[in-house]
This record gives sequence, C-alpha cells and structure tokens, in this order.
Amino acid sequence: MTDTTTVEDQKSLPILGSEDFRLRPLRLGDEAALLEYLSQPGVIEHTSIPAPTLESLTASVQRDITAYAKSTSFRFAVAASDDRLIGICGFNSWSPAHRHAELAYDLAPQYWGQGVMRRAVLAMLTWGFSELGLNRVHAFVMTSNHRSIRLLERCGFSREGTLRQYRIARGEPKDFHLYALLAQDFARTARGASPNQTMQRTTGRSDA
Ligand SMILES: CC(C)(COP(=O)(O)OP(=O)(O)OC[C@H]1O[C@@H](n2cnc3c(N)ncnc32)[C@H](O)[C@@H]1OP(=O)(O)O)[C@@H](O)C(=O)NCCC(=O)NCCS
Repeated sequence: MTDTTTVEDQKSLPILGSEDFRLRPLRLGDEAALLEYLSQPGVIEHTSIPAPTLESLTASVQRDITAYAKSTSFRFAVAASDDRLIGICGFNSWSPAHRHAELAYDLAPQYWGQGVMRRAVLAMLTWGFSELGLNRVHAFVMTSNHRSIRLLERCGFSREGTLRQYRIARGEPKDFHLYALLAQDFARTARGASPNQTMQRTTGRSDA
C-alpha cells in the first residue's frame, strides 16, 4: 500500500472477530452517540479529551472523515450489530515516512470489561502492520488510566517512559506514559494469541 491510498480505496478494513461488533468508517451523525457516552461520569476523567459538546464532536468527526481522504489518520467507529457507534479506535498522526502511528480509543462504559476494545485494538494492529506497513505503533496514556494501561500491556505494548506534564487535561497538566509496540513484537504476540484474539480478514470493504 502506498501513502496515496485513502480509506475509500481500501481493499479491506480492519475486521473484528465478532458477530456483535465491527469497525467501520466514521460518518456525520455519529457525534450524537459519541456525545452520549463521552458525557457520562468518569469516561474522559483519565484522558486529555476536552469537555465534549455536539459542536466540537461534529467538527471532530468531520476532521476524521477529511483525514481518510488525505490519509493522515485512520480512526474508525466501533459499531454494535445495529450499526450504532459505541466507541472509537484508530490511528492518529500516521507517518508513512517513519512508518509509525499513534493509537487512540474510547468506549461507551456499558461495554467496558467485555474485551470489546481489546479485540478492536488487535484488529487495528493487524490491519496497521499489514495494510499500512507500520513498523511501530505508540500510545500516550495518562498515568492514572489503569484500564487503558492494562489494555495496552495485554496487547503486548511496552512502557518506554513517562512524559511529565505532557498534556493539559481540561486545564490541568498531566503526566503520560509512552507505550509502544513494534511490528516484530506483534508478529511474536500474534503467533501466541488464542483463536478469539486473532482477527479475520476479508478482501471486500466491510462498511456500507
Ligand atoms: C480504556 C478502555 C477502552 C478500556 O476498556 P475495557 O473494556 O476495560 O478494555 P478491554 O476491552 O481490554 O476489556 C478488558 C476486560 O474485559 C474482560 N473480558 C471479558 N471478556 C473478554 C474477552 N473475550 N477478551 C478479553 N477480555 C475480556 C477482561 O477480563 C478485562 O477485565 P479486567 O480489565 O477487569 O481484567 C475504556 O476503559 C475506556 O473507554 N475508557 C475511557 C476512555 C479512555 O480512557 N481511553 C483511553 C485513553 S489512553
């Protein structure tokens, strides 16, 4: 795949090994479901996500759609079987030159603790290392975000260090750990993964 490929050109999208959930491109209208869960208590507490409004989330979804066309980032909706967005998982700031990308995700709290995001992250990693030709995926996680830290470590990420006051979270400087996973490490992890952790691939687009 070359750096001129857009999401519309994809021969495949990341596929979750689940009948109940799938990854699909974001579309205008998703901002309502996003607002619903990001506004729930505790969801953004351990992140630098700004206090959400319908306007800011509409602009954010629009930026994500524009980014597909420019191939600058690939953030997908995690959708339930009725196609409603229940989370986001994807790569921010993809660098084709350096073959790295930043992983980011969030999920509606009623779906926490079911392994949904772990499957989504593994699907994105499988897709990113193969389709985008990534060599490295990194993630920044607030040092107090224990759920996210556990998820990254279960997916094989290693902590590379702690960045002091790296981001301002709603006015407060916060420390973030830097986690990363290399393609060579993922290949080893994938070989040891159980069947329900491995991702299916298709040759056609999965979205409508
Ligand atoms: C970070 C976040 C996505 C993690 O969600 P999560 O549901 O805890 O993560 P996972 O998908 O890895 O689920 C793992 C849990 O599901 C359980 N689980 C149940 N069935 C499972 C399965 N089939 N496979 C894997 N895990 C399963 C695991 O036991 C685990 O529980 P535990 O953590 O209590 O041991 C979620 O907390 C969130 O959206 N937080 C707010 C936004 C945020 O912090 N984003 C990240 C910024 S860096």
